[in-house]
Amino acid sequence: MNSPLVPAYWQQQGIEQVLIDEASIARRVRELGLQLSVELGDGRDVVLIAVLTGAVVFVADLMRAIPTRVAISMVSVRSYGASTTSQGAVLGSAIPKNLEGKHVIVVDEVLDSGGTLRLLRAEMATRGVASLRACVLLRKQREPALSTPCEMIGFDIPDVFVVGYGLDFNDEFRNMPFVGVLGADAIRAGVKR
Ligand code: IMP
Ligand code: MG
Repeated sequence: MNSPLVPAYWQQQGIEQVLIDEASIARRVRELGLQLSVELGDGRDVVLIAVLTGAVVFVADLMRAIPTRVAISMVSVRSYGASTTSQGAVLGSAIPKNLEGKHVIVVDEVLDSGGTLRLLRAEMATRGVASLRACVLLRKQREPALSTPCEMIGFDIPDVFVVGYGLDFNDEFRNMPFVGVLGADAIRAGVKR
């Protein structure tokens, strides 16, 4: 499949390639929503917990692809390390309360080092949840991402730095509607404009 052209504006901002276009994301998100609704029935006692900030775009679409009542919650996890690599994860907010007996789905935008999911799984394991799933839009083809437990994966992608559809570089690009590869020059330059 030929990848679509990068829109001129985003090309000027340092985007080198459209990795996953809007239509492909929308199709896959619908499939994930359908899969969840088949597995979770009427949605009773289901809580989607989105990891701030990157998962906000994904969860906004995913929740609307689920045709039953479900609860939505958020948790903040900060990764530390340089701006394009993550080396560890720390909670930036409390874990949502009253998860006992709930079917929890942790929603994140990318599985990279796996630190975020490992941290959240360890936290959830102590809260008496009825079931626990992790659902990520993207998983990088690298260790330890590949060996981090994750029940639902939108797309497996190469180990490159990507932005858009919630993913950021220095908190920018989250609003770009497709997933694109940010070039090394732009990363080095910090995307000056
Ligand atoms: P983890 O390394 O699996 O814990 O993922 C931590 C966080 O690193 C993600 O939630 C993203 O915020 C960030 N991250 C990892 N890879 C990328 C990327 O390619 N683009 C933008 N952010 C990324
Ligand atoms: Mg980030």
